[in-house]
Amino acid sequence: PASFVTSERDQDCPFDPSRTLVRMREEDGLPRLRVFHPVRGEIEAIVVTRYGDVRAAFAEDLLVTGNGIDTTMPRTLFNQPGFLPAYSGAEHQRLRRMLTGCFTVRQVEQLRPAIEEMVSAHLDAMVAHGPVVDLVEAFALPIPSLAICELLEVPYETRSMFQRCSQVIMDGTACADQLVAASAELNAAMQELVTRNRAAPGDGVLGRLVRQHGEDLTDAELLGFGTTLLVGGHETTATMLALSVLALLRNPNQLAALRDDTSVTNTAVEELLRYLAIPAPLLRMAVEDVEICGSRIAAGEYVLLSPLTANRDPDLVPEWPDTLDVHRRPVAQMSFGFGVHQCLGQQLARLELKIALPALLRRFPTLELAVPDTDLRFREGSTVYGVEALPVSWRPGNAG
Ligand code: HEM
Repeated sequence: PASFVTSERDQDCPFDPSRTLVRMREEDGLPRLRVFHPVRGEIEAIVVTRYGDVRAAFAEDLLVTGNGIDTTMPRTLFNQPGFLPAYSGAEHQRLRRMLTGCFTVRQVEQLRPAIEEMVSAHLDAMVAHGPVVDLVEAFALPIPSLAICELLEVPYETRSMFQRCSQVIMDGTACADQLVAASAELNAAMQELVTRNRAAPGDGVLGRLVRQHGEDLTDAELLGFGTTLLVGGHETTATMLALSVLALLRNPNQLAALRDDTSVTNTAVEELLRYLAIPAPLLRMAVEDVEICGSRIAAGEYVLLSPLTANRDPDLVPEWPDTLDVHRRPVAQMSFGFGVHQCLGQQLARLELKIALPALLRRFPTLELAVPDTDLRFREGSTVYGVEALPVSWRPGNAG
C-alpha cells in the first residue's frame, strides 16, 4: 500500500503506538505534527488518532493520497498509472472494479491448497536445516512471495530482485532517486509479463484482466496493476507474519491457545491484525475544505491517519485495548484501512496468516527466540512496521 511516513515510534514496547500519538489521542481537537513527505520534504500534518476520527477520515473522499498521476513528477510506483491509491473518485472506481473479482474470499480460497503446500515445504526445510533459523528469511518472506508469484505468474526465481526493490519502495525514508530506480527495475521485469499476457492471456491475474477488460486497460495501467500487487502483496504480509510470531512468543499463553485450539485461529488472526496494526500512519491531503471530527481542514492541508492508535482506542476496545487476547471478539479494526481504498488483498493476507501461523506453532511447539530481545532490530520509518530478522530456535527432537 502507499503511504508516507511518520515520526518514529517513541514507545516502550515494540508493539505499542508512539507515546506522542497516544498523548494526542487524549487531547481535545486535532493536533499538528511535522512529518516527512518523500517528495515535499518536511511538512505539517493534522494528526488523527482516535478510532471514530480515523474511520471518518478514511471514509472522506475529499481526503486523498494522490491527485491522479502527475506526469511532470518522476515516475515511481507511487506515481504511475495503475497504482490504485493514487487515484480518487470515478477513475479509482473504474480501475479498482476490474481487480476486485480476483480478490474475493471465494477466489482467494482457491489458493488454499497451494499455500498449505508452500507452508508445509518450508516447515520441512526448517526442520532439515535445524535451529537456529531466521524466521523472516526461512518462512515469513517466502510464503507471501510465493503466493503472489502464483497469483501473478511471476517467476519465483526473480524474488531477490523484487524483494529488494519492494523494500526500497516501502522504506519511507528512501530518496526520490532510489524510488525511481527501484520502480524502473520492477517495471522492466513486469513489462515482460504484460507483453506476454497481451499476446496470449495466461491463467494469472494479468491474463484474466486482459481477457475481461483488455480493451479498457492501457498497457501502462496493466503494468502498474502488476507492480502494485507484487509490492503490496508480499512485504506487508511477510512483516505481519514475523511480527505476529514475535508477539506470540512474548505472550506464551496466547501462543499456546492458538497452537492447541483450532477454533481460535480466526479470532487470533483478527486480534493480531488489530493489536499490531503494521501500516505506519498514512498521509492524506484535503482537495477541498472539509470538516472532520468537528474540525475544519482547509484545501491543501495534510492529514495523518494512525491505524494503530485507532485499533487501541478504548472507544473501540473498552477492555484492555493494549493487551493481545486471541479469544477477543473481532472488531472493525483499521489495519486494512477503510472506505474505497480499503486493502484489496486483505482476504489473501488473512488466508496466509490463518494457514501459516498455526502450522508453524504446531510443527515447532518449543519455538523460542534465539537472541536476546534487545538484539532485535525494528523497521522504523517504513510504510509498514516490522522486525528486520527473527532468529528462532527449538528443541530438535521436538519438531513434529
Ligand atoms: C491497500 C494494508 C496485504 C494489496 C491497503 C491499505 C492498507 C493495507 C492499510 C489502504 C491504504 C490507503 O488507504 O491508502 C495491508 C496489510 C496487509 C496487506 C496490513 C497484510 C497484512 C495486501 C496484499 C495485497 C494488497 C496481500 C495484494 C494481493 C493492496 C492494494 C491496495 C491496498 C492493491 C490499494 C487499494 C486501493 O487503493 O484501492 N493495504 N495490506 N495488500 N492493499 Fe493491502
